[in-house]
Amino acid sequence: MNDILSKINETCAFIKSRITEKPQIGIILGSGLGPLVERIEKKIEIDYRDIPNFPVTTVEGHAGKLVSGSLGGKQVVAMKGRFHYYEGYDVSQVVFPVRVLKQAGIDNIIVTNAAGGINSSFKAGDLMAITDHIGLFAPSALRGANVKEFGARFPDMSNAYDKESIKLIEKVGAQLGVQIKRGVYAFAQGPMYETPAEIRTLKIMGADAVGMSTVPEVITAVHSGMRVLGISCITNMAAGILNQELNHEEVMKTAKDVESKFVSVVEKVVEQWK
Ligand code: HPA
Repeated sequence: MNDILSKINETCAFIKSRITEKPQIGIILGSGLGPLVERIEKKIEIDYRDIPNFPVTTVEGHAGKLVSGSLGGKQVVAMKGRFHYYEGYDVSQVVFPVRVLKQAGIDNIIVTNAAGGINSSFKAGDLMAITDHIGLFAPSALRGANVKEFGARFPDMSNAYDKESIKLIEKVGAQLGVQIKRGVYAFAQGPMYETPAEIRTLKIMGADAVGMSTVPEVITAVHSGMRVLGISCITNMAAGILNQELNHEEVMKTAKDVESKFVSVVEKVVEQWK
């Protein structure tokens, strides 16, 4: 059997031995957005360190564990902490958990992140439904021999972010009194924040927000036929948009301030996602 496929099967078998309820929805939690797991009931937690073939997270603000249980009446598996390309992982390691979630039977995934706002109508603390992405600077998650059990060699990315799910999050936002912005997310390799010139370039290219994750995971999810909802928490305005310096502490602080509205929105989306 293909090496990657046998690794995924091994990891999946381990997870299924610990999580017996069939999961319906996968959730990847971005920087500072981990507290969503507190809302999960009948929790089963598995440390990434204990999962065969899983890389281990290193970045500040990311605990590495898989948290499964009931959220909004659905069975979810949340990744508290993800693997970033900038940490030194190969992109195939970055997306490995997405392959495992799919293999575990998950067809719907919510991918979240902290991002810098490029669209000048945004402000720190906004939530943005991702309508599309720019991944031209991301190493391809699908590089190398295609495993046909996963999906097509040349997958279409025209509808990577499910349109009905974007409408749903907007509806949920209206119910909760939380405005949901829409926009295009651009990938930057990081870990340095971008220069003002890079942000001006991304703006011309059509980006509304920028971050260091999400794109490889979404490509992998779409490749394997998963339905994707992407949510960015705008934690800061990107470099050069406002006259201010950027730092990780500010990103984490905004994520903390936004925590309760982010958690309510995601929980209600999970509840209403059909
Ligand atoms: N740039 C890239 N990634 C980010 C930013 C940013 O400004 N804010 C949070 N993640």
